Amino acid sequence: MEELINRVPKAELHVHIEGTMEPELLFDLSHKNSVPLSQTLDQCKQSRLNYENLQDFLNQYYQACNVLKFEEDFYRLAMEYFEKAIKSHILHCEVFFDPQTHLANGISFETIIKGLTRASEEVKNQIQVKWIMCFLRHLPESEGIELINQAIPYAHLIHGIGLDSAEEGNPPGKYENAFRIAAEKGLCGPQCLYKTAHAGEECDASSVISTLYHLNVPRIDHGVRSIDCDNLCKALVECKVALTLCPLSNVKLRVKERFFPEKKAIKELFDFGVMITINSDDPSFFGGYINENYAYALMEFEEDRQKDVLRQLAKNSFLASFINEEEKVDFC
Ligand code: HPA
Ligand code: ZN
Repeated sequence: MEELINRVPKAELHVHIEGTMEPELLFDLSHKNSVPLSQTLDQCKQSRLNYENLQDFLNQYYQACNVLKFEEDFYRLAMEYFEKAIKSHILHCEVFFDPQTHLANGISFETIIKGLTRASEEVKNQIQVKWIMCFLRHLPESEGIELINQAIPYAHLIHGIGLDSAEEGNPPGKYENAFRIAAEKGLCGPQCLYKTAHAGEECDASSVISTLYHLNVPRIDHGVRSIDCDNLCKALVECKVALTLCPLSNVKLRVKERFFPEKKAIKELFDFGVMITINSDDPSFFGGYINENYAYALMEFEEDRQKDVLRQLAKNSFLASFINEEEKVDFC
């Protein structure tokens, strides 16, 4: 099965570029850029084995971001991910980046976007890359709007927008204006459809409902807790809203253990008819890239169904992607 998972052409729709930073790269950049870290390499690897919750992980993730200083660092980070993605037979990926984290460290928007897009340009014959700019929802919306102003000169390099960071205490309505302005400024594609938001990871199904209501997104990142609300699942099916599930992330952040330890949420959502996709989120922090996430997801299904489910999940990954309909047909 592992061989088959690797071989099947797929798209990755939920990966944070900062979350692909392996401990070795973190330490290399820390030395190169003279940014001290509070841990040894071994301690860092150890601390990535378990997290208490989303915030515990985010603290480590944002700390790791501090070593990224120069265009070359963003280029290297992205290149290391693309090399792995190509080997995993990802043909198309939509990659999140968190400019606000780096702007707060005094890095210019130009440095970030130039480094990332130089990498994606270099691999474009092997993998199609689309950059999704995320707002950090724990920050005030006014800072998100300021981010939009900085991004406008580079709008041609930005495919869509997203919303990430701490879900608890930062409801989607907080970012309603920023999403509207981003759409007006052309940051979400010609039809304003290329927008997505994290929901139903830390918070329950009602967070998915209010995200759909306030942000009108065609896709929800995670959304795994929709499984607790039949009516929401029905609406997701009817309105063709896709979920970008990240199984290993849910295990490592104890989402699964807290909310549905016995439930096979992936299988239940799939059998309900919800358009689900499998993704890696922050693979270097959660112990597995895309193939490991597919393997984990497939374990929920009976063995005689696994091949068919794999094929459908891979197909879903293109169907739920932010590419135009003709391109989708080419991929599928
Ligand atoms: N959830 C919310 N914000 C994030 C995540 C996540 O899993 N990874 C990086 N930022
Ligand atoms: Zn995520």
